[in-house]
Amino acid sequence: MADRRPAVRAVPGPPAIRRRIARIKESGIRVIANATMGREDVIPLWFGESDQPTPEFICDAAAAALRAGDTFYAPNRGKPELVTTIAEYENRLYAKPIAEDRIVVTNAGMNALMIAAELLVDPGDEVICVTPVWPNFLGCVEIMDGHPVEVALAPKDGRWHLDLDHLFGAVTARTRAIYLSTPNNPTGWMAERDTLEAILEFCRHHGLWVVSDEVYARVVYDRDVAPSFLDLAEPDDAVIVVNSFSKSWSMTGWRLGWVVAPAEAATMMERLNEFNVASPAAAAQTAGITAIRQGEPHVLEMRAGLARARDTVMAALGAIDRVELIRPDAAFYAFFGVHGMNSPTAMAWSLVEQAGVGLAPGDAFGAGGDNYLRICYAKSPDLLETALDRLAVALR
Ligand SMILES: Cc1ncc(COP(=O)(O)O)c(C=O)c1O
Repeated sequence: MADRRPAVRAVPGPPAIRRRIARIKESGIRVIANATMGREDVIPLWFGESDQPTPEFICDAAAAALRAGDTFYAPNRGKPELVTTIAEYENRLYAKPIAEDRIVVTNAGMNALMIAAELLVDPGDEVICVTPVWPNFLGCVEIMDGHPVEVALAPKDGRWHLDLDHLFGAVTARTRAIYLSTPNNPTGWMAERDTLEAILEFCRHHGLWVVSDEVYARVVYDRDVAPSFLDLAEPDDAVIVVNSFSKSWSMTGWRLGWVVAPAEAATMMERLNEFNVASPAAAAQTAGITAIRQGEPHVLEMRAGLARARDTVMAALGAIDRVELIRPDAAFYAFFGVHGMNSPTAMAWSLVEQAGVGLAPGDAFGAGGDNYLRICYAKSPDLLETALDRLAVALR
C-alpha cells in the first residue's frame, strides 16, 4: 500500500499555536492588577479574596500531613476521606441526598469549570452564560471551540434581576448548557429557589445541562446557605454544581474545590482530572478535611465581618452622588455604576493613579457590566475605610 500521508514540507518561521487559543485575551480583571501588583501606594481590591490568611488550624493540618509523609499522588477522584467529608457536608446543607459517587475533588473551582467544559462542549456548541459574571467559564468554553452566549442580568426595582424569558429565548438547537454563578460574582445577585426550579425544569425539558457555579454558597447574609440546585436536582439530572474551598475557608492559594454531578458524569470528570492535574495536592486535601470538619466557626465569623464590611461599603459609596449602587444579597463584592464614566477600564486605571485604589472594571465581566466597577470588600476594616475615603475624593 502506498503511503498517502502528505509529505513534510519546509515551513518558514516558528510553528503556530491553535488559532482559537491565539485569540484568547488576558482576563480583564487581571490587566490592571498584573501591571500594578506590588505597588505599595495602591490598595488592591481587584481580586476576589479575603486579605486574611487561611486559619492556622487548617495550615497546621497541612503542615502535619506533609511532615508525616503525605507527599504522594492522590486518587483522581480525590482522597476517599475528603470525598466522604464533602458528602457529609453537602448532605447537612442541602435537601436532596448526595451520594459519594457524584463527588469529584478538583483543583479549585477554576479547574472544575475547565473540566466541566471539557466534558460538555463540542466545537460549535453554544453555552448560555448569565452575565455579568466572573469571566473564566466563558474562556473555558472558548478553549473548547464553543461559543458563550451572554444573557445579562439587569437592575429592576433596586435589585439585580434575571429575566427568564430572555434567558430561555437565547437557547437554540446548538445550545448545550446554561451556566450561572449564584451567588453571583460580581453583582451579589443570588437566585432564589423558584428561579432555580424554573431553570431546572426548562433544561430537563430541552435536554440541556446546567453548570451552576456555587463557590459563594456560604457567603450569604440572611440565611446559612444560598439556594442551590442541590436542593432540587435528582441524582441523574444533568446538573453540575461547582464548589470551592477558596471563599468559605479563605483558601484561595490552596487550589482545592469539588464538583457534584450525576454519577456517570462524575466518573468522566474523575478521568479528566488525570489529564488536567491528576489530583489536587495531597496535603491540601488533608487540609480540606480539617477545614470542613472544624471550620464552621470560621465561616460564621468571616461572614459576620463581611456583613459589617458590606454595610461600610454601602454607606460610603452610597454617599457619593455620582455612584449608583445595588445592595449585594450575597458574595463579597459591590458592583457600582458611576455617572459620566465612559470606560470602566479607563476609570479603573485612573483610580489606580489618582486614588491609589485597585478595582476591577465592569466590562471584564461580560454583557451588562459596561457601566460598572467592582470592589471586593473582603478586607480588614482599616484598609477598606482608607480605600473608601480615597474613592470618595476621586469620584466626587
Ligand atoms: C464565580 C466564581 N467561580 C469560581 C471561582 C474560582 O475560584 P477558585 O478557583 O479559587 O475556586 C471564582 C473566583 O473568584 C468565582 O468568582
